[in-house]
Amino acid sequence: MPSLEKRVALVTGAGGGIGAAICHRLSKEGAFVVAADLNFDNASKVAEQVRQVGAGCLPIQLDVTDQLQWRSAVAETLRVAGGLDILVNNAGVAHIKPLEAVSVDEWNADINVNLNGAFLGIKESLNAMRERAERSPSGASIINIASVSALVGSPGMPAYSASKGGLRLFSKAVALDFAKRRYGIRVNSVYPGLIDTSLTTPLFESMRGANSSKDIEAIRAEMIEKYPIGRIGRPEEVAGVVCFLAGEDSSYMIGAELVVDGGLTA
Ligand code: NAI
Repeated sequence: MPSLEKRVALVTGAGGGIGAAICHRLSKEGAFVVAADLNFDNASKVAEQVRQVGAGCLPIQLDVTDQLQWRSAVAETLRVAGGLDILVNNAGVAHIKPLEAVSVDEWNADINVNLNGAFLGIKESLNAMRERAERSPSGASIINIASVSALVGSPGMPAYSASKGGLRLFSKAVALDFAKRRYGIRVNSVYPGLIDTSLTTPLFESMRGANSSKDIEAIRAEMIEKYPIGRIGRPEEVAGVVCFLAGEDSSYMIGAELVVDGGLTA
């Protein structure tokens, strides 16, 4: 039997590289997936692909920074799927600029999406997830997608680093609260290194900086040098770890941080 059969998962940022891979993987394991993204067209494309190979998938438009939209998204999930067992806070943005160049709006955008988005998601999903967890021996699972920028300093990314560093300890704090209150909801977080998605292009461009004659491929090669494994990661390699945290095999893991970075921070 697939490991997540009869489970319902909501994935944010589902229209992006890692989010789409997470939707595919959870669905392959039997979960009904709600693919939520600010960009409804992208969420719809992912949902259509997922439906062809896995269990059911519902696309929804969701801005994770908007509490009322979260409320509607959870209500819609309950209406269509009858419950919520797995929440993956994956939506993210990155303003890759040194402190002097970051505007207040850009700073706030990284904090709002990457940190406040997860706070609102957990706040608005909590009752539904508790209700489901009380009736299921497997409980419920929340997975927050942070970054290696939450573990070590990332030059040129102060806003992103602050948001992901905040997400790291927020995850641990709520993980402990929920465990001690016996909610049956486990909270864990994931720390990807460089993964091949649209998010990496602005990183390479910012590394090129003033030296605009430099080839992006050369910058990519320089970046790969830093990774002991000798390559950039694939979205599926993050999705596999998320799937593990979503299911029974990680039943004794609370507030854990799983690093998926090809050895970068080892
Ligand atoms: P991506 O850019 O491919 O996807 C991000 C998705 O989030 C997009 O579909 C976008 O529409 C959505 N999004 C942005 N703002 C939103 C909002 N307010 N509400 C709802 N959705 C919103 O990026 P990728 O690489 O798939 O990133 C996924 C997560 O993984 C992010 O949290 C990112 O910080 C994290 N991550 C990515 C790494 C990488 O190298 N790609 C490395 C470490 C962490």
